[in-house]
Amino acid sequence: MLPPSRTQLGLFFILLCPANIIGLWWAVGSPLVMDPNSICRKTKRLAGKQAELCQTEPDIVQEVAKGAKLGVRECQYQFRFRRWNCTSHSKSFGKILQQDIRETAFVYAITAAGVSHAVTQACSMGELLQCSCEVTRSRAPPLPTAGPGAEGSSWEWGGCGDDVDFGYEKSQQFMDAKRKKGKSDIRTLIDLHNNEAGRLAVRGYMRTECKCHGLSGSCTLHTCWKKMPHFREVGDRLLERFNGAFKVMGANDGKTLLPVGHSIKPPDRQDLVYSADSPDFCMANRKTGSPGTRGRVCNSTAPDVSGCDLLCCGRGHRAETVVLEENCLCRFHWCCVVQCRKCRVHQELSLCL
Ligand SMILES: *[C@@H]1O[C@H](CO)[C@@H](O)[C@H](O)[C@H]1NC(C)=O
Ligand SMILES: *[C@@H]1O[C@H](CO)[C@@H](O)[C@H](O)[C@H]1NC(C)=O
Repeated sequence: MLPPSRTQLGLFFILLCPANIIGLWWAVGSPLVMDPNSICRKTKRLAGKQAELCQTEPDIVQEVAKGAKLGVRECQYQFRFRRWNCTSHSKSFGKILQQDIRETAFVYAITAAGVSHAVTQACSMGELLQCSCEVTRSRAPPLPTAGPGAEGSSWEWGGCGDDVDFGYEKSQQFMDAKRKKGKSDIRTLIDLHNNEAGRLAVRGYMRTECKCHGLSGSCTLHTCWKKMPHFREVGDRLLERFNGAFKVMGANDGKTLLPVGHSIKPPDRQDLVYSADSPDFCMANRKTGSPGTRGRVCNSTAPDVSGCDLLCCGRGHRAETVVLEENCLCRFHWCCVVQCRKCRVHQELSLCL
C-alpha cells in the first residue's frame, strides 16, 4: 500500500469539474488525504445539498470522506496492473473525472459504493447517532434455506444487521446532489447512472448470516441478520461491470441513455455506462490525464494487461535489481513466539521504457 500523499487536486477540481464527486473531493482536500476537521470549513463553498448536509450532519460527512477514501483505495487495487492505475498523485485524476470514459464510470461507481459502505458500517459500529443496526421488526422471517437440520426449527431476525438503506440514502444525498441550475446533460445522466450502479453493488448483494441456538447443537432457533458484502467483493464486481461497460448516447428527450452499437440489450441499473472511448494511456498526455507507463513495473512473462508487452505499449522494458528486506530463518519458540532474522534479497524487476 502506498503512503497517502498530499496533492493539489482540490482547487483544480472545483474550477474544472462541476460534478458532485469533485465537490466532495474538493471539500476534503484530495481523495486520499482527508482531514475530517477541515471538511466542513471547506464545504462552505459547496453548493446546496452538500453544504446543508455538512452543517447539519458533520459526523456523517466524516464517514462520507472515509468512504471516498475506501473507494479510491479499491480503485487502485483493482487497477494496479492496468496502464491507468487510478493514481491520485497527479492532475491526472482530475482530468480523468472530466471525461465520460469507462475509467470515469468506475471511479464514480466505486466512490458511491464506498460511501454507502462506510456510512452503513459506521451505523453498525454504533458510531453515529442517526442510525444503528437495522430495524427488522417489520421484516418477514428469513427463508429457511436448505441446510442440515433446517426442518422443524424456527427463525427470527436478531443480532446486528447492517442498515444498508441508510448508507444508500446518504450516498445518494451526497453524491447525486444536482449540479447548479439543474442542468440535465448527458454527462450528468451518465454520472448518476454510475453512482447508482455503485450503490447497488453494495445493497444488492447483502448476505444473510445466522447463528444456531439450542441444546447441544440442536438448532431449535436460528437468529439471522443481514451483512454487507466485503468491499473487495464490491470492487471485484464493479471491475466486471467495467469490463462489460456499455457505450451510450443521449436520446432526443435528453432524459434517456441509449446503447450505442450492436448491443441489443440496454444497460440495466447495475451496469456501468460511458460515452467516449478511452485513450490508450501509453504516453503521458496532459489533455487526457494519462501519466503514461514509462517506469511502470511490468511482468515479463504475463500474457495479460500486466505483461510488459501490453503495459509498455510495445516500447520494451529494462531489468532492474532492487534489494528488499525480508523476514527469514524464522524459528518458532515454544510457546508462542516466532523470531525471524532480516535478510536482504535481490529481486529482479522489469520496468517499462
Ligand atoms: C501507478 O502509476 C503511476 C504513474 O504511472 C506510478 O508512478 C505508480 O508507481 C503506479 N502505482 C503502482 C502501484 O504501480
Ligand atoms: C508474472 O506472470 C506470471 C504468469 O501470469 C505469474 O505466474 C507470476 O506470478 C507473475 N509474477 C509476478 C511477480 O506477479
